[in-house]
Amino acid sequence: MPQLDIRPVRNKQELEELFYQRWLVLRSPLGMEIGSERDNHEEGALHLIAMCDRKIIASARLRQLSLELGSISYVAVLPEFQNRGIGTKLIKNLIAKAQQKNLKTLRLMSRINAIKFYQKLGFSEQENPFDYLGIPHIFMQLDIQP
Ligand SMILES: CC(C)(COP(=O)(O)OP(=O)(O)OC[C@H]1O[C@@H](n2cnc3c(N)ncnc32)[C@H](O)[C@@H]1OP(=O)(O)O)[C@@H](O)C(=O)NCCC(=O)NCCS
Repeated sequence: MPQLDIRPVRNKQELEELFYQRWLVLRSPLGMEIGSERDNHEEGALHLIAMCDRKIIASARLRQLSLELGSISYVAVLPEFQNRGIGTKLIKNLIAKAQQKNLKTLRLMSRINAIKFYQKLGFSEQENPFDYLGIPHIFMQLDIQP
């Protein structure tokens, strides 16, 4: 595979490309419209992308909720690039960024089928599963104190 570049988005155009890639992976399969992939917390969040051949093939968002707590969301790897370790690299990179911000804990909402993926990264399940967009989810958490 050509070289993989994992880094934050650099400008508004890249952010728009990210939204489209996010929609393709997380919303289009649910029959949801373009625009449904974004929320009111995009500004000020850290948007990380994995670029391959100048194309965004994976993305994820880190948002600071308090001095010590961060939230990871919209983790998306294009289907043809899944199961090659790219999601793992992306989240490890996001964890390092969260540590640089002195965050102590990371939380996320995992689709039930992705639990194993996050467990391998050290996250553990919290509370009970719940329904979101018709898909069972569960909160997961990771302590990232050095
Ligand atoms: C879930 C996702 C982010 C994982 O990224 P990835 O690059 O495919 O994952 P990696 O290759 O780093 O996988 C590492 C491990 O997670 C497991 N895994 C990855 N995707 C999985 C899935 N959809 N279901 C079950 N296990 C999965 C793999 O089996 C692998 O474990 P292994 O090495 O023992 O086989 C990606 O597959 C994806 O975008 N899926 C569709 C959207 C989604 O479900 N996003 C998560 C929202 S919470």
